[in-house]
Amino acid sequence: NRPLTITKLKKMKQEGNPISVLTAYDYPSARLAEEAGIDVILVGDSLGNVVLGYDTTVPVTLDDMVYHTKAVRRGAPNTFVVADMPFMTYRVGKESTLRNAARLLQEGLANAIKLEGGADIADEVGACVRAGIPVMGHLGLTPQSIHQLGGYRIQGKLEQEAEALLQDAKALEAAGAFALVLELVTEPIAEAIRSAISIPVIGIGAGRGCDGQVLVYHDILQYASPYREKRFVKTYADIGTTIRNAIGAYVQDVKTGAFPEQKHAFPMEPGTAVLSHL
Ligand code: KIV
Ligand code: NA
Repeated sequence: NRPLTITKLKKMKQEGNPISVLTAYDYPSARLAEEAGIDVILVGDSLGNVVLGYDTTVPVTLDDMVYHTKAVRRGAPNTFVVADMPFMTYRVGKESTLRNAARLLQEGLANAIKLEGGADIADEVGACVRAGIPVMGHLGLTPQSIHQLGGYRIQGKLEQEAEALLQDAKALEAAGAFALVLELVTEPIAEAIRSAISIPVIGIGAGRGCDGQVLVYHDILQYASPYREKRFVKTYADIGTTIRNAIGAYVQDVKTGAFPEQKHAFPMEPGTAVLSHL
């Protein structure tokens, strides 16, 4: 089972083989995702929300992303890892974009980067691809622009919006992106974009017509995710409750003296005097 490549990902689309993507942010989450057989790990800048406790992804820095990507790679040495470029580490000129992107591959050991935007960043996408840095696009609801968008609302509800999304998707494909995330896009529009381009479309809140799906680790596991109920998330476990109850039981045991027990303690050699001068 050799690691995925961008060539294999494109082939998965052609063969109608759905691509599973999950975010991960550190050694244990990456390790468990790899052991469970995930196709692609995304070190999302959603770590700003779910790991660092910010309200948006805007405060996330490139250093944050490098740090977390390194940990993910150590946990998932054999998985295709995509790392998000945070707010304003691209769109600031090709040279800075290239230098910033390179850090995620050289220091973080990611296989690829992800950028939010369409035709407006096609030049920067092209520059990365020519430099040997695979790029995943991200259209629809783009959380780094939340202050400009004014809220987390569904994209592609109106025909005009849908046409703009399609043109952006085509621009990213033409610029050499190897895949595209569509976030919070109506199902018919996501499906239409999926069939209009040859690169895999990975949906989140984009319905059933995509080539793959991505969700956030803390959301599917109910791991103290700061978000309220989201229609597009399916939860597979409630580890938040499991962890809270376990910690509560530990606190109780310490308070009552139920922990530690003899089996948790270390005896001395038999016949040894215990500080007999005291
Ligand atoms: O940061 C992230 O987790 C993402 C996914 C939601 C696509 O960009
Ligand atoms: Na992101």
